[in-house]
Amino acid sequence: MARIIDAPLRHADADCETRPGIGQWGALDASTKRGLAFTPAVKRETDALYEKVEHVIPPFEWPAYAPLIAAINRLKREKNAVILAHNYMTSEIFHCVGDFRGDSLQLAREAARTDAKVIVQAGVHFMAETSKILSPDKTVLIPDMRAGCSLAASITGADVRLIKERFPGVPVVTYVNTSADVKAESDITCTSSNAVQVVEWAAKEWNSDRVILIPDEYLAKNVATMTTVKIIAWHGRCEVHERFSAEDIVELRAAHPGIVVLAHPECPPDVMAAADYAGSTAALANYVTTRRPGKVVLLTECSMSDNVAQAAPDVDFIRPCNLCPHMKRITLEAIHDALVEMKHEVTIDEDVRVRAKQAIDRMLALPKTDKPLDFETGAREVAVEVV
Ligand code: 13P
Ligand code: SF4
Repeated sequence: MARIIDAPLRHADADCETRPGIGQWGALDASTKRGLAFTPAVKRETDALYEKVEHVIPPFEWPAYAPLIAAINRLKREKNAVILAHNYMTSEIFHCVGDFRGDSLQLAREAARTDAKVIVQAGVHFMAETSKILSPDKTVLIPDMRAGCSLAASITGADVRLIKERFPGVPVVTYVNTSADVKAESDITCTSSNAVQVVEWAAKEWNSDRVILIPDEYLAKNVATMTTVKIIAWHGRCEVHERFSAEDIVELRAAHPGIVVLAHPECPPDVMAAADYAGSTAALANYVTTRRPGKVVLLTECSMSDNVAQAAPDVDFIRPCNLCPHMKRITLEAIHDALVEMKHEVTIDEDVRVRAKQAIDRMLALPKTDKPLDFETGAREVAVEVV
């Protein structure tokens, strides 16, 4: 069950630790330890950035964050580095040091195209691996090596080889939330922005009525409601999204008549059935900023609401608080130290990288759609074989 934070401003709720380890005193301490202070020059340099996060960071906390933000932005210029920030990053990272922001697909496209020498991945390890696979000549850093993912941890390359033995000739579509080893065993990757397009392409290309879609069981089941291709799934789960339930939605609607419920497709099928709209993190952000619902709840990671609220100040967000502990390992101080010490470098065995790249390249070569995929809500569950 999600912890619902019914407060217009996150910092108004003392229990909502969406920036773990870097509350006001944590950040002050982190800056001081690194010899950084809130000087008049730092204030001038960061005043415009503060406007982007003033809805979540109170003015008295800003002097704790600003010195780290200014230092990171200077280091990026010195080292010709870019920061790719996922939508689940906390707002001070997302809005104040991120150069490119978005969902997994948008960040992968950016990693393939940037001409910076260094990529700092403000996201989790599989995203940094994707950047390295696409840009092998660049130095790719992940600020904290422990930033994993329950989906990526649910399956290995050896598992995929066994699945392929069991279903010869059936194409393997792999969600990007997987290790390079798993991608290397796959025919094509997908994200929640293009999963149906990729599944249908693979079925046609392999002349198969079935497709193996791994490792997220719920994503696979949610895709199955939108295609006639039969899906074979794996039993991986996102530890953040599996915690939402259809009962949460019943409670939300009772407490907030008229609320619009948006869900990420890593949520269980009964949550998708009860939601008003579903899609990737980019699709959810796009829905809020273009459709401007009066009151909305995003059934996904906590920081999404904070980040989207910046561009939609008139929308009232009811905030479910399911933190991704892996995403939250990425903090301003970890990014700062990664750039100073050029750590922690992501490396991939060349044979694995080349095979994984083929799977990602096939996905990136598919026609670009105008907007991320809208998932079906209100649909009945379709039988899916889970191996
Ligand atoms: P997207 O940003 O691709 O929707 O993925 C969500 C996610 O859980 C990434 O870890
Ligand atoms: Fe993985 Fe879920 Fe965290 Fe995304 S939110 S990184 S899928 S555990």
